[in-house]
Amino acid sequence: MSVFTIEGGYPLNGDVSVQGAKNSVLPILSACVLARGESVIHNCPRLTDVDCAMRILRSLGCKCRLEGNTLTADSTLADRFDVSDELMCSMRSSVIFLGALLARFGRAEISVPGGCELGIRPINLHIDALRKMGATIREEHGRISCRVDGRLKGCAIDLPIASVGATENIVIAAATAEGTTVVRNAAKEPEIVDLVRFLRSCGAHIGGEGSTNITVYGVDSLHAAEHTVIPDRIAATTYLCAAAACSGEVRLLSATEEHLSPMLSCFEQMGCKVRTGGGEIVLTSRGRLHRISDVSTHEYPGFPTDAQPVMLATVAKARGTSVFVENIFSNRYRFVEGLTKMGASIKVIDRVAVVEGVERLFSADVEATDLRGGAALMIAAMAADGVSHISHLSHIDRGYEAPEAVLLSLGAHIKREDI
Ligand code: EPU
Repeated sequence: MSVFTIEGGYPLNGDVSVQGAKNSVLPILSACVLARGESVIHNCPRLTDVDCAMRILRSLGCKCRLEGNTLTADSTLADRFDVSDELMCSMRSSVIFLGALLARFGRAEISVPGGCELGIRPINLHIDALRKMGATIREEHGRISCRVDGRLKGCAIDLPIASVGATENIVIAAATAEGTTVVRNAAKEPEIVDLVRFLRSCGAHIGGEGSTNITVYGVDSLHAAEHTVIPDRIAATTYLCAAAACSGEVRLLSATEEHLSPMLSCFEQMGCKVRTGGGEIVLTSRGRLHRISDVSTHEYPGFPTDAQPVMLATVAKARGTSVFVENIFSNRYRFVEGLTKMGASIKVIDRVAVVEGVERLFSADVEATDLRGGAALMIAAMAADGVSHISHLSHIDRGYEAPEAVLLSLGAHIKREDI
């Protein structure tokens, strides 16, 4: 088993070249199934979730390889429309292949992704939308079989929740549907905008991305394209939180300020100095942090749920009490147990976490409970006195590219060890 051994108490200084966005590249890779030919995706982060998406692509008959941070996916010879239970289970977002498979083959067979560490994660919105587009969908013994005669049909889809994954599935499926699809109450996340940019380079005709209504004018087919993935706003936030919590000065290269604005305002409230411009963000943190006003997670452009754990860990040592309200996932505070073990004072009642800043955190042996919760524990361990160990790194490796190398380059005392 691998663990991170982290000796806390060292300031962080230096530059971070922010990795490409996990939540952009995953739907883009599924869209590659529909875009016939060899697509080249630059700035692809090296993550276990990306490995899993590559395994799915290969199982469908695509050729793919990852060299450095450039992924090449060739879907010319793709000839399968089913994804095995094993592959489906290894990554929750594998459901994102549904729309692309249906659009390309008129059939798709996947398994129900089930719940995950963040709580129940239904896919009813994905299924309802594809049904409305003409697909016949049967769910039996945990497998979902979808079929459509001819092409999917464009239609108006009103999403009751602005689901990121459902918006992505619909937009991909609608790209080659017959007629026009309008998605109302669509998710507005930057990763959706990135996916649409990719689809457009593949020949799709789409407008309104980044707003509440996305219109997709179906075209006959998509071709492969070259694309550069946007910087990961949650990885960027994680490294800024680490700098804020540990003191020091960290400069993010290639970060998009607009995607980070709710978090940048938190850092300013904490008393950090934030300078932005020219695609860079510099955060300077000196002395004890201040509390922040209530953080309530919402869809973009609100405060992202994925940034909640790392921000919460950052204020664990701040002066005063900070309050978090989690509105997207039902079970996103499991990492709090680890923070409490390190001496943090946090009360969780249902969706609310009240963090009373303590003067010091202490080392402990803790388990990463999920991806962002694991990152929160890394931040707390770097801000704590003494040597901590974090296990279950597989959660962290799903979404962060070599985080120990990034943090080590900033001056953290961190190593990955096999025990
Ligand atoms: N929901 C439904 N029915 C559905 C789909 C969603 O009830 O059919 C509910 C979910 O249970 C949840 C809410 O709607 O309560 C929002 O879920 P959404 O569909 O927007 O999330 P997702 O597409 O499953 C993506 C990211 C998550 C991120 C969320 C919210 C990817 C691969 N995953 O998930 O990322 O938290 O959007 O922004 O894009 C992470 O990176 O750590 C992560 C969990």
